Parts: sequence; structure tokens; C-alpha cells
Amino acid sequence: MTHPLTALNQRLGGIGYGGDYNPEQWSREVWREDVRLMREAGVNLVTVGVFSWSRVQPRPGAYDWELLDEVLDLLHAHGIAVDLATPTAAPPPWFTKLHPDALPVTASGTRLAHGSRQVFCPSSPAYAEAADAVVTALAKRYADHPAVALWHVHNEWGNHNALCYCDTSAAAFRTWLRDRYTTLDALNSAWGTDFWSQRYGDWDEIDPPRDTTAFRNPGQELDYRRFSSDALLTRHHAETALLRRLAPGIPVTTNLMGTLEKKADGYAFAPACDLVSVDHYLTAADPDGHIDLALNADLARGMAGGAPWLLMEHSTSAVNWQPVNVAKHPGELRRNSLTHLARGADGIMFFQWRQSTAGAEKWHSAMLPHAGTDSRIWREVSALGAELSALSEVTGTRVQGDVALLFDWPNWWALELQARPSDRLRYLDVVRDWYAALWALNLTCDLVPPGADLTPYRAVVAPNLYLLADQDAANLDGYVRQGGHLAVGCFSGVADTQDRVRPGGYPGALRDVLGLRVDEYLPLRPGQSALLDDGTLAHDWAERVEPRGCSAVLRFADTPDGGPAAGGPAVTRHAHGRGSARYVATRPSAPTLRELMRTLADEAGVRPVAPEGVEAVRRTGPQGSYLFLVNHTADDVTVPVRGTGLLDAKVTDTGALVPAGGVVVVREHE
Ligand code: GAL
Repeated sequence: MTHPLTALNQRLGGIGYGGDYNPEQWSREVWREDVRLMREAGVNLVTVGVFSWSRVQPRPGAYDWELLDEVLDLLHAHGIAVDLATPTAAPPPWFTKLHPDALPVTASGTRLAHGSRQVFCPSSPAYAEAADAVVTALAKRYADHPAVALWHVHNEWGNHNALCYCDTSAAAFRTWLRDRYTTLDALNSAWGTDFWSQRYGDWDEIDPPRDTTAFRNPGQELDYRRFSSDALLTRHHAETALLRRLAPGIPVTTNLMGTLEKKADGYAFAPACDLVSVDHYLTAADPDGHIDLALNADLARGMAGGAPWLLMEHSTSAVNWQPVNVAKHPGELRRNSLTHLARGADGIMFFQWRQSTAGAEKWHSAMLPHAGTDSRIWREVSALGAELSALSEVTGTRVQGDVALLFDWPNWWALELQARPSDRLRYLDVVRDWYAALWALNLTCDLVPPGADLTPYRAVVAPNLYLLADQDAANLDGYVRQGGHLAVGCFSGVADTQDRVRPGGYPGALRDVLGLRVDEYLPLRPGQSALLDDGTLAHDWAERVEPRGCSAVLRFADTPDGGPAAGGPAVTRHAHGRGSARYVATRPSAPTLRELMRTLADEAGVRPVAPEGVEAVRRTGPQGSYLFLVNHTADDVTVPVRGTGLLDAKVTDTGALVPAGGVVVVREHE
């Protein structure tokens, strides 16, 4: 069956291109200019209505479709398809006045006020009723409108309101817990409530983990995270079910946030969409923002199960929500967009079409900036539109990662709970270190959950698996036994899904596959380092590793500089079944981690296609094989590849010339 995104691409005549269109902010004359300029820029898809609730339903029960009717007709008349959003991310002021109990409450008991967006409690029945009503009305109104090509459910579930601690949430949490545990004994055991006299004798005694005197119960916290993500997912399912029933045949998506959103488990939301779409924004202060971009694109692909996905939002230049909002360099917008495309996106969209002159996001860049069409941004936006249209043939092709990087939201939640051996092991930091090493070596990786089918991958890396289900540990063991090559980072395998430590020595569920035992964790002080016997320094963490079948690849130096585990193994390798399993019992420097990944890839037989500094990703499909080359260096580089250059690429007998800072796409020949 044709994938829903590929079907959408066919309808659009190529790669989706556009952004959030918020016509509520503008007059009719501006709308007419908008559609003309959209055509000029090659825009074929816009997201409409994300924040239109107070316009379409100005009063309870009263709908006013005039604006949306006119805008949708206008867009359709100009050949621009619509990704129609349910407006449920921004309840109108009248809703809050009618239902003050639906306002979210913080862990310290402060009830938040109206005045922004997502000001609702995810478990509020009043919110659910109001949201369902407006979604129903919207779906009925536009089910047959010829412009509507996609439904956009809500906006970034949980971005601002995922964790609510009100009494309604407390009651919903108790119901969720009863479903999960059935008996209080099971809950008491899972949460370890016999410690600190927390044993519950009645379900009604259980509250959300609100602010308290000292450490909160970790089991309660972890389950509250799960419950909160599920509460949002319940709303997503409700909206999706209405849309599918009332407007069948139109695919449904929601803009997920990848690593920008800790609180909503992306792997749970993705299967509840017909096609996966994501937002990504660079952190201006991060010099390696382009690596974070690649990581998130690979996560989007992982969430999509390898299928093409849609980049629903990114920025043409600066955002407005960081301390200093740095503008993108000339050419960066193109590089960013084509990197998403390289990694499997079949649509490139922005927040937003026309830069606001009023409201909270007027200092956020847009496709059409304050300066108008006589601007660098507009010229780059129009040029990108033309290039995407010339690249239509890549739609539907897929990227197959050589390496799987295991990424998991519940593990992220658990690792960063209170009272751990060290607060310096931050999940994203560790994941980014490992990903950066793979990225530098041009090893394409899919980010997948630990329970995923790992058979397509020659190597699997797990930067951290603090929380690991027994069956996921068995999945890794089976993968290695059957010939796979695995590398696991420190402080892994320790806890079960309830954050209960597995006794008998660390790394718990991974002792056998890794062929070692650890009797004590030895975290390093801030600023302290441990010398490894390759002469590099490691940070934050050490372990006393006792080999039980593994051999040491690297050791902590056998001197006082070697830190608390001096002389002991720091990196190990264990031959297990037909494969191998490495353990990294510290946080090595970038060069050491890169070397480790290089050795792993060598052993797994994975060969990068381009030299370091030129990011290379291949998309393949029945129509051919396309190599994307993104040059991050200051020099032009020739990459040996045979094929035809798309866009203006020069491909000669010696290969493809990739200009400094440029992107080249080559349709490969045998
Ligand atoms: C996203 C959001 C958009 C806009 C954008 C600005 O998180 O979905 O509506 O606020 O950020 O970067």
C-alpha cells in the first residue's frame, strides 16, 4: 500500500513545502498577497488553524467559519493544499472563565492563569468535552473541502502543560494506577513504599508527586511521568478517532518534538498517527546544532519505523525563545532543510509563513520576514522552494541506518530522577556524545527503542540503559548471540521498569551479555577526571569492573591520575555467541569515543562513504539511489561517487564536488 505521506506527495506533485499559516493576524488584502507569494516561493502545503479556536468558536456553542471558509477556498484556488489543524492547543479565554478548574496546577500548587497557550489540564473532563466539540464541528465542516490534505492534531502535545498536579489529575492518576497494578500490594511493592513509611492502605491516599520536604518517591515520580504522557495520548486518540470517523480518507498527524520534548513519549504517539511529523529548532548557543538536527531527523525516522516523515516546523532564521536568538548564516537554512531531506523527510515546513507584527512570536523568523520580499530570508526561501521542486524524484525513498542507537523516553525520565549516584549523567548529554561520534564517522543510525527489531542493524549502541525491561535485555542478548555487535554506556542495566535495582551486582540485566560484574559505582567529582591508558581523560563516572569473560580494551591508568578505579577496565569487549558486546564504564573524551565507534564499525563491517566533515546519507527506493552530501568544512571537497548531480551539482570522473558549506545530491550509477 502507498504510504500516506507518499500519497500526499503525489497529490502535492512533489516534496511538501510551506509552513504554519496564521491568517487570523492579517487582512483580506494580505491574504491575497500571501497566496501570490506562496506560489512564487513554491509553497504547496500550509498548516492552517493551529491557534484559531477563539475565532472559529467565539462563544460557547457558537461557531463562525467565515474566516476559515474564505482562506481555505483562496488557498485551494491557488493550488495550495491545507494541513488543517485542530485548534485545541489554545483554548479561548471564555473556556477558562467557564471552567477555572481546567487550568493546570504546578507541583507547588500554583494554579496557572490564562494568557498563553496550552493552559489546560490534560485530564480535565471539561477540556475534553470542549475539545471534542470543536474538533467535531471542524471535521464536519471541512471533511469534504478539496483543500484539506492532512489533519494536524493539536500542536506539540505537552510542550507547556504535560505535568499537571491538580485534584482532577490526582483522581485520574489513581484510576490509571488501579489499571496498572490492580492491587495496592503490587503498587506498594513496585514503589518500594516500605521505605520511609510510605505504605498506602487506600487508593485515595495516593497523590501526584507534588512538592514536598525531601526526595519524592521515585516509583511514584516515574509512574506520574508515564501517566502524564498517557493522559496526553488519550486526548490524541480522542481527536484522531473523531477525525477518522467524520472525515475518513484524510491522513492524520501531530507535530512531535523529538528530543525537544522530554515529557511526551514520542514512540507512543507515532503509531497513533498515519504519518509522522516533527518539529526541530536549533539551539543557537550550541556550536554542534547541526549534529542535534541530524540526531532528531534520525529519531523522526525511527519513530516513523523507517518510513518517510514530515518536518512540520523549523525556523528560517532566529527563534525568539532562547536567551540570545542568533540569526542563521546565509546558506544555513538550505543546509538545514536539505539535511532533514537527506535523513528521510519528504516535506519541509516552517513556523511560520509570514512574520507576525504583534503577539508573542513577532520576533521569531518566518518565510516572509518583516522586511518583505527584498530580504535575504525571502531569497533563500524562494530558492529552496525551487530546489525542492527539482528534487521531487526522491520522495518515497528510504534511509536504512547501519547502526541502531537505542533511545528511550522512560529511561530518560528514570535516569534524571532525584537522588542518583551523580546528577552529572544527563541523558541527552550522553546520547549526544555517542551520536556525535557516529555522526563524525558518517555512520548512519536509526534511533529506535530498546525493544525494536534489531536484526537489520550491523551494530547497536546504547549510550545509556539505566532502566531496562527484562525482555529488552533479552532482545539485546539475542541480537549479540546471533552475530550482532553491541556497545553499551555506563550505569546501564541496573534498574527494572519500576526503577527497582537488580541485586547481585551491576550492570544487572546486562552482566551476562557484557561478561562482567561491577560491585560499586565510583562517580567523579565535578571537574575531576580519570586518565585512561590511551592518554585521554574521562569524566563524571567510573566503575570497578570485574571481568567475567570480557577483556579490557582500555583501562583507567594504574596511577593516582587513573581516578577511583585506577588500573581497572574502563572499556571492555566480550565475545558472546556469534557477536560481541562492549561496555564503556565511564564518559570518555570525544576522540576516544570516536575511536571506539570506529572499531565497532570495523568489526561490524560498516564503511562510511565520505570523509569526515562531509555528512553523507543515502536514500534508496525503486526509482534509484540518492547520495546527499553536506559539506560542513570551510573547503570544497570532492567525494568519490559515480552518478548524476541533481540541482547544479558537478559530478565528474573523480567524483562530486561539494562546495564549502554546500549540499550536493547525486543520483548514483552502478
Ligand atoms: C513551536 C510551536 C510553534 C512556535 C514555534 C516557535 O514549539 O509549535 O507554534 O511557537 O515553536 O519556535
